[in-house]
Amino acid sequence: MTRVSEIAAVRTVPVPLGSRAYDVLIGPGLLANAGSLIAARLGAPKCGIVTDENVARFHLPALEAALQRDKLHAGSIVLKPGEATKSFRELAPLSERLLELGLERGDLVVAFGGGVIGDLAGFAAAILRRGVRFVQIPTSLLAQVDSSVGGKTGIDTPQGKNLIGAFHQPSLVIADTDTLRTLPEREMRAGYAEVAKYGLLGDAAFFSWLEQSWRSVFAFEEVALTRAIETSIKAKAGIVGRDETEQGERALLNLGHTFGHAFEAWCGYSDRLLHGEAIAIGMAIAFRFSETLGLCAPGAARRVASHFEAVGLPTRIADIPGDTPDVETMMRLMAQDKKVRRGKLTFILARGIGDAIIASEVPEAGMRAFLAGEIAGTGR
Ligand SMILES: NC(=O)c1ccc[n+]([C@@H]2O[C@H](COP(=O)([O-])OP(=O)(O)OC[C@H]3O[C@@H](n4cnc5c(N)ncnc54)[C@H](O)[C@@H]3O)[C@@H](O)[C@H]2O)c1
Repeated sequence: MTRVSEIAAVRTVPVPLGSRAYDVLIGPGLLANAGSLIAARLGAPKCGIVTDENVARFHLPALEAALQRDKLHAGSIVLKPGEATKSFRELAPLSERLLELGLERGDLVVAFGGGVIGDLAGFAAAILRRGVRFVQIPTSLLAQVDSSVGGKTGIDTPQGKNLIGAFHQPSLVIADTDTLRTLPEREMRAGYAEVAKYGLLGDAAFFSWLEQSWRSVFAFEEVALTRAIETSIKAKAGIVGRDETEQGERALLNLGHTFGHAFEAWCGYSDRLLHGEAIAIGMAIAFRFSETLGLCAPGAARRVASHFEAVGLPTRIADIPGDTPDVETMMRLMAQDKKVRRGKLTFILARGIGDAIIASEVPEAGMRAFLAGEIAGTGR
């Protein structure tokens, strides 16, 4: 087995949060070293793994062996895959099973999977014995570049997504790029939308690099894949370090999300539209709306859409399979987004590629007219 010290490609991104600071480790081959990576940083806790059936099928034996080698493995809990798992119904038995594993205050929950497992297991860790530490081992691209970092944990309810939860920072994030090789291609593309988001919101040079290099990322070329993930995590870590609980700047990470969440709700959070696909349409719309308002020079929206189209991501409401929402439905669904304050919608818009801004008090009439054009397919 290759020890981690021999893995030349491993990258470390610190998340600067004072007493709650932690590292994100990125690179191939990390899973096999998870035990020693955890033990070196967090002592010798008992580890309860939480994962889903898909991830378990491909990768659980490797993680269990790695934890057993360092005598850290307390047990593994394998849940059904899918957004429905992020629920009170699953949280209750999960919490009890973690207690049955004998996890105590100094021990660790290991969230091993995509964003669903990360959010649910992180929330379970936040409430178990009033808070135990947890480690994120993200296995989807979306989780590696976004959900595993920043400490937002939670579950969905019939009232909406992520409305119940807690800020609970992980103690370590281990992003093994090799695990992405078993991820379905559609999931990889959906996660890529969040990678592109970091370029679009604050790093024009990164977006240009992605336009040139996205094929290498999808071909799992180590240097390109690691660079895409590392640049994304650095951007997120910087923002979270400055604004952990989203009092301001962290809202920029929601570029495309108010529109996107409305599309996800419209599709019933089903496979009809994955989160990243909804966000891709949302970001393309945010740029078109920014141009309509004269905030952004013409051309940026076309460039965003062209890149997403090249990658195979949707960019228009008409790209959603099946029927599409009307203007009133869109307004109602967007108003349920938790980024609403006192009835006013706050949108993340852009002055250009790499230059997103928080726009509060967006005029409702202008939004309705714009959406009507988008839905009719007559938008720019
Ligand atoms: N906490 C945050 O800051 C934050 C940020 C963004 C998104 N999220 C949440 O993340 C969730 C979406 O995450 P996701 O896209 O990772 O979804 P997911 O966890 O459902 O994973 C997507 C699918 O890929 C499978 N999978 C994951 N890794 C795999 C692998 N290596 N090989 C084979 N299959 C694999 C899963 O079983 C699942 O079927 C949503 O619930 C969203 O709300 C949270």
